Amino acid sequence: TVTTDASTFIAAIDQGTTSSRCILFNRAGQIVSTAQKEHRQIFPEAGWVEHDPVEIWTNVREVVAGAVAKADLAKGAISAIGITNQRETTVVWDKATGQPLYNAIVWQDTRTERVCRELAGDAGVDRYRRRTGLPISTYFSGPKIRWILDNVEGARDRAERGELCFGTMDTWVIWNATGGPQGGVHVTDVTNASRTMLMDLRTLKWDPEICADFGIPMSMLPEIRSSSEIYGTSRPRRGLEDVPIAGILGDQQAATFGQACLSPGDAKNTYGTGNFLLLNTGTEPVESKHGLLTTVCYKIGADAAVYALEGSIAVTGSLVQWLRDNLGIIQNACDIEPLARGSKDNGGVYFVPAFSGLFAPRWRPDARGALVGLTRFHNKHHIARAALEATAFQTREVLEAAQADSGVTLSSLKVDGGMVANELLMQFQADILDVPVIRPVVSETTALGAAYAAGLAVGYWSGLDEIQANWAVDKTWTPAMDADRREHLYGQWNKAVERTYNWVE
Ligand code: G3P
Repeated sequence: TVTTDASTFIAAIDQGTTSSRCILFNRAGQIVSTAQKEHRQIFPEAGWVEHDPVEIWTNVREVVAGAVAKADLAKGAISAIGITNQRETTVVWDKATGQPLYNAIVWQDTRTERVCRELAGDAGVDRYRRRTGLPISTYFSGPKIRWILDNVEGARDRAERGELCFGTMDTWVIWNATGGPQGGVHVTDVTNASRTMLMDLRTLKWDPEICADFGIPMSMLPEIRSSSEIYGTSRPRRGLEDVPIAGILGDQQAATFGQACLSPGDAKNTYGTGNFLLLNTGTEPVESKHGLLTTVCYKIGADAAVYALEGSIAVTGSLVQWLRDNLGIIQNACDIEPLARGSKDNGGVYFVPAFSGLFAPRWRPDARGALVGLTRFHNKHHIARAALEATAFQTREVLEAAQADSGVTLSSLKVDGGMVANELLMQFQADILDVPVIRPVVSETTALGAAYAAGLAVGYWSGLDEIQANWAVDKTWTPAMDADRREHLYGQWNKAVERTYNWVE
């Protein structure tokens, strides 16, 4: 147990899709210091998305050193480190040298479409749903590992000889932080493992039959641990020496934990590159009948695992980036709001951002993006508005699915992530859902959740009550749209989405 005086802190490392960050938190769950660095997005072909794992590990070290330096801490001031990460993104490396065999294949990457079709075969995409909670999809790690073993020369033989390690980004960062080829620990937590398609949701162990179907030798898989326990200690590296690494949560699960969604029926929605709505369903996994995923939400030490239903939407914030980088109609992401305010409504224009096909609740890999309803009248203001509204419509779809699956009717929605600074979007979200939307004071809930997991493991925080007590409301948006208009807009959205189907043969 550590001392928790005012001079000790918990460090959270958030290895995300676009950047790596380190945030130091105090006992009240407030931010003390932060550092961030973006990494390259590598697009070798249409539909392929990669990251350089070595670049990411270098950035992680830099942001940890940066956050520690900014806070000007005494030695020993960091009580524990928690890790949270973009989920599913897959790295395979050589155990002896630490060299990745290939770039990390990112969750958004769709190159495994054929592998997925073969795996589904006549049994269909729900072949493993009961065991894993997931439909067969390019989204998850299993097919990505398979692709590396099939396509990198010699990889399969080396994997079979036990020379390779697989990891999601949590595993890669911890393996390096605890020693790399010189004795790094090879672990992951139940939340990340639940996104590989290789773990049995109930036993919380790798499923040998599924691994065999995928052709993945089990020797390359990390050990599955809880989300809150000591996995190892950081090796001497700038600023952080011998600090216990004591928390791992996939980023969406971390945000759920950081939002104090600790009871069945509590839900949060994170607005990042994509949107991820998670509803806590308690200690039994609930199988989705409405296109959601069943996933592990968290497991604190020896306590029972808590499960969630998840609505994963592939493209929300990244549509705003696309308007900035590919169309150039805005200079900065935050310019989208004033641009959208240039028109009083969407003028009948709908933007369906099916750039990676459609994820939850429709799971249509054959869909591609579309902008519909255009006439000579329309301009960039309508397009900006339609882009923002797409996020809110997609959220309504997954929220309705979550309610139908769980039987819970949400009386409000807790939100976090970059886009919750957008007032226009948040008001429209409340309007289209017809429930209040609530933003907490600490909107860095992902990093906070990982800090909580680590802090609980070392006794920095005493229990879940303290986490609940730290959560506070910053702002609430109240619905203000009449029902006819709401249902008309949502009906038109639905029509627009159906136009995007069957685009890819
Ligand atoms: O499942 C993908 C998700 O974990 C990515 O989150 O915030 O890095 O875009 P983010």
